[in-house]
Amino acid sequence: MTTEPREGVEITVDGRVVKVDDQGASLLDVLRDQLGITSVKDGCSPQGQCGCCTVLIDGQPRVSCVTPVRRVRGREITTVDGLDTSVADKWAEAFYSTGGSQCGFCTPGIICRFEGLRARGVDHQNRDAAAKALQAHLCRCTGWQTIVDAWSAFGEESHVRPASTSNDSERRAEIEGRSSQLVDPSVALGRGGFADDTAPEDSLIAVRMADDSGWAVAESRSVALREAGKVQGRRTTGEWGSPLEIPPGDWDLTLATTWVEPAYLETDASWCVPGGNPVSPIANGGAFGAKTSSEVGDVARRLADQHGRPVRVIYTREDAVRNGPKRPPMAAGLRRDGSGVIRVAATPGIDDAIHSVLPDVQVDEIEVAGPPTSANVRGAGWAEAVVLSAGLRGEVGWIDSPSGGSAMASVRPDGSIEIEVRCGSHLDEVVLRSYCIGAAHMALSWVTSESLSVDPHGEVHDLTIRSFGVLRAVDTPTITVQIHEDEGPAVNGSDAVFAAVAAAVWLDLGLPSRWPHTL
Ligand code: FES
Repeated sequence: MTTEPREGVEITVDGRVVKVDDQGASLLDVLRDQLGITSVKDGCSPQGQCGCCTVLIDGQPRVSCVTPVRRVRGREITTVDGLDTSVADKWAEAFYSTGGSQCGFCTPGIICRFEGLRARGVDHQNRDAAAKALQAHLCRCTGWQTIVDAWSAFGEESHVRPASTSNDSERRAEIEGRSSQLVDPSVALGRGGFADDTAPEDSLIAVRMADDSGWAVAESRSVALREAGKVQGRRTTGEWGSPLEIPPGDWDLTLATTWVEPAYLETDASWCVPGGNPVSPIANGGAFGAKTSSEVGDVARRLADQHGRPVRVIYTREDAVRNGPKRPPMAAGLRRDGSGVIRVAATPGIDDAIHSVLPDVQVDEIEVAGPPTSANVRGAGWAEAVVLSAGLRGEVGWIDSPSGGSAMASVRPDGSIEIEVRCGSHLDEVVLRSYCIGAAHMALSWVTSESLSVDPHGEVHDLTIRSFGVLRAVDTPTITVQIHEDEGPAVNGSDAVFAAVAAAVWLDLGLPSRWPHTL
């Protein structure tokens, strides 16, 4: 652990003139770690690709993680915390009333981007302009549409909805996300209570060493990153598809998939005080099941005890790609009667998940060199099996998920997607609709554009957040959701939507035998 001589840089932040330490730090590091402005989020620094750290510099939206603080000497920085209160409240209301913010990690940066549009006088009914502006951002939860709805709803009285007095909204979000989640206007302003936002000010910061030899621990993130020997991840031009060959045989239906990155925006983070319990990395959203086995809590506890100080542990984006669990690749050959062979990367629980839908298929689990895989990642195994059986039937029909929810989906001739869902009492229609649209976007993106390049030695080469192939707002068709309310208890609906949309898109494309099937 080292400290460095300090050099001051004067900037104006949210109307306050401050002198901050340079030390080669980015504006993001200064805002979060020196000034404690946690509404500015770090989803991929220093890649500058997710947009979560976007702030206004002299009124222009800029990504703060790739902006050295010395370059903004004397300039005026505005975060969502520094917006005029009535403007911030209107944004919070717009996102809350449309379901445009789920975990809320991406939203403060998007609000700053939209403020840039507003300053240019762009009309709020201009949805194309909003979708284009979102090209500088990534949101994994919402599927974009409700964010564009929020742009249009800004300042509209008709969109004001009272904050829920029951906990129905949170219950619906928890059922869909499988982890507790705050649902109120403050979430859009970055106040979802993420693990790395709540750490004590005097915490040390731990970053995984680039050579995997342990953890670099320092007083600041910029120093910890340097000591860890981190080199910025890149996207590859290498093309490695599915690592598994479709089994030889006379099949009626075949499909080979590859690794898919869950691509949650908030990378794994935790903190712990000596002798305490670590804060969960699943702070305001379930990360699609991918953080259930994250190591960061245990590491935070161990390092806090070792150093006798609170310690924050943070994954970089590259750490999350290399060490976080992926959707396992598989290769299937099926006969019309549902028999056949599915080869799948060896993954605990995947055999049962596939057999729950296709009991007569032979599942061969194969050790494949590559990143870790998990059956906990959104419907892994079950969804693929559902999609394959829809392919054999030649129709989607109603898809029933193990949680009790059902969904049906179709692709219209104009490319738009229609969904019907039954999952008991909706509890909160806005929240349920948002989750269904997010699941539909994720399914469309999975079938048509998402993959992770992994070489034959198992090394991951796509290390930037934009290299995973997440479908952009401008490429996402209109998604309509019809909710069939019933008397039954509220159950998860978005997993059934995810599988139904994947099946509908695959059928619409003519059942190509490799995913992603680029449109
Ligand atoms: Fe956008 Fe969660 S709401 S990443």
